[in-house]
Amino acid sequence: VSAATLNVALGARSYPIEIGTGLIARAGALLRPHLPGPRVIVVSDRHVAAAGWTTRLAAGLDAGGIGHATVLVEPGEASKGWAGLQHVVESILAQRPDRKTAVVALGGGVIGDLAGFAAAVTLRGLPFVQIPTSLLAQVDSSVGGKTGINSALGKNLIGAFHQPRAVLIDTATLATLPPRELRAGYAEIVKHGLIADAELLAWLEARGTALLAGDDAAAQHAIRRSCEIKAAVVERDEHETLGLRATLNFGHTFGHAYEALCGYSDRLLHGEAVALGLVQATELSVRLGLLDPAATGRVRDHLAASGLAVDPTRVRAEGFPAEAMLAAMGRDKKAEGGTLAFVLLRRVGEAFLSRTVPLEVVRPLLDSPA
Ligand SMILES: NC(=O)c1ccc[n+]([C@@H]2O[C@H](COP(=O)([O-])OP(=O)(O)OC[C@H]3O[C@@H](n4cnc5c(N)ncnc54)[C@H](O)[C@@H]3O)[C@@H](O)[C@H]2O)c1
Ligand SMILES: [Zn+2]
Repeated sequence: VSAATLNVALGARSYPIEIGTGLIARAGALLRPHLPGPRVIVVSDRHVAAAGWTTRLAAGLDAGGIGHATVLVEPGEASKGWAGLQHVVESILAQRPDRKTAVVALGGGVIGDLAGFAAAVTLRGLPFVQIPTSLLAQVDSSVGGKTGINSALGKNLIGAFHQPRAVLIDTATLATLPPRELRAGYAEIVKHGLIADAELLAWLEARGTALLAGDDAAAQHAIRRSCEIKAAVVERDEHETLGLRATLNFGHTFGHAYEALCGYSDRLLHGEAVALGLVQATELSVRLGLLDPAATGRVRDHLAASGLAVDPTRVRAEGFPAEAMLAAMGRDKKAEGGTLAFVLLRRVGEAFLSRTVPLEVVRPLLDSPA
């Protein structure tokens, strides 16, 4: 039984998020009211399939009288490119879909972004459902309708807004997720506490360890709060025109630069880069005089206690030189005296986008990170 149903209120594009354990086994019955037709094409990856989830989903769809085919891709970020998109779109077309055939993304954020974009462009738009199986996808990428692939010139540069018809979050999937991936997703929950909910951050400080040790009730609570927070932001700024949706990128300007300097490799997962970025973005808010100086230590201590690296030199012995970081942030060497855009904290639980952060404050922080 699903423990919670949230609604993402987007007018004609509104959809439910169901959160509970064992939902995949009941996917047919749960999805039926949200599907225009009795047939779906499941897109997943080989790790998720090897963990048994495509088989369980097939059984759940059979039980609800939903016809299905499955398309598998190789796990990993490398599948989220033109070649991966071509494979998924052509495989969907080979199933002879009509406009009522839904695409179901069963997997982490890579599968959600890739399958969602394939759904957006196949036959000019097929209905789409998210069944996120990584913690990161459950608390972040499966909600909000951003889909897309990477370009050789940068991550997520090709894409579309394509909202799902429904999101099914089965927390049982977390049992097979590698612990490192679990911790990486956890960083995004901490982010949600920092930008929108001081109570959530305090709750994580008390219950985060239980969540990371596999406590299902704790996972459901944190996932629900995260989805509520993200949905509320997306409802107010669906297409990121107001700077409000940008607050979801707290810690990400630093994070993306760390990722870029690690070559988007397994050396540093996205959520791990975000954890590093959360510390620096909090410290930046402190140095700009916005935030109680104790906040940085608090964020640092909690992330470290959760098993996430908080010291950049632990990730890369040679460090992350300020010039290279600024270049990765899109600032060139000569841009002295300029300003940068960053999401900042006014207090724990309240974030805003500033476009006027002086370079003179950022550079010393990059030279000796908090
Ligand atoms: N669309 C958005 O709004 C948004 C937001 C944040 C991140 N993203 C994107 O999400 C991607 C990262 O997502 P991710 O961290 O989920 O990566 P991922 O999809 O690569 O999944 C991480 C790893 O875990 C495996 N896995 C997933 N679920 C599993 C399970 N239940 N059991 C066993 N293995 C499992 C995957 O096969 C993969 O190896 C990035 O491409 C990022 O750009 C998108
Ligand atoms: Zn992120």
